[in-house]
Amino acid sequence: MADYKCEKVLPYSASSQGKKEQVEQMFDTIAEKYDPMNRLMSLGNDRTWRKKAILSLKELNPKKILDIATGTGDFAISAHHLLSPEKITGIDISEGMLNVGQQKIAKLDLTDHIVLQVGDSMQLDFDAQTFDAVTVAFGVRNFESLHKGLSEIYRVLKTGGVAVILELSEPENAFMKLGYKLYTKLVIPVLARFISKDTRAYNYLPQSIEAFPQGKEMKALLYECGFSQVEVKTFTCGSCSFYRAVK
Ligand SMILES: C[S@@+](CC[C@H](N)C(=O)[O-])C[C@H]1O[C@@H](n2cnc3c(N)ncnc32)[C@H](O)[C@@H]1O
Repeated sequence: MADYKCEKVLPYSASSQGKKEQVEQMFDTIAEKYDPMNRLMSLGNDRTWRKKAILSLKELNPKKILDIATGTGDFAISAHHLLSPEKITGIDISEGMLNVGQQKIAKLDLTDHIVLQVGDSMQLDFDAQTFDAVTVAFGVRNFESLHKGLSEIYRVLKTGGVAVILELSEPENAFMKLGYKLYTKLVIPVLARFISKDTRAYNYLPQSIEAFPQGKEMKALLYECGFSQVEVKTFTCGSCSFYRAVK
């Protein structure tokens, strides 16, 4: 089983903690500012990307959905509105992110439909063949082991179930890539300093995107983990990649 470069990119390189603990600490620190930072950094595109990913599940009409790395719950909330499943379970390692999500879900009166709980993608606390669809938006980049995380998704999906993954990526076109690099290395750290006060978290962002396998490499990995009919699409000049895979 291959190791992936992204597994070695850490938020706090001077820390002796493992990737999971560092990622958890980072998201706990930025949780309150995560939503506004997300909107600003993606120039509002994050909502459209989530919507496109969720609508790819419309035909499947999933009843039980697991949203891994659910964070502040935006993907789960949109999936509820667009797909009306019976139940969405969102899991995340960061209690800080989940607390923000719980407040949003309570305010929207969706607590009977969306349940958020602490959980690690490396070891999903669910039986095999439990979910019709499993989703991960902007989370796989943080996994300690990409192969293990994707294999866990495969295990908990029902046969015929679908995994949908969204992840930030680097544009392939050289001109767009230059613009993207300038934006992530110069503009985002400044925004992070003013809004979230944790600049290290937002240095980790471009580094982990750069190290993450994208396109064909990610497609091959999904096949290696047992999936079939793997589809890849990119949005907004390649700055976001979408993967859809069937068990
Ligand atoms: C960039 S946020 C994405 C949140 C949300 N999915 C969205 O669309 O905005 C990444 C989330 O992944 C979570 N995460 C990272 N590693 C994880 C793991 N091993 N298991 C579960 N969640 C994890 C983080 O705590 C964080 O909340």
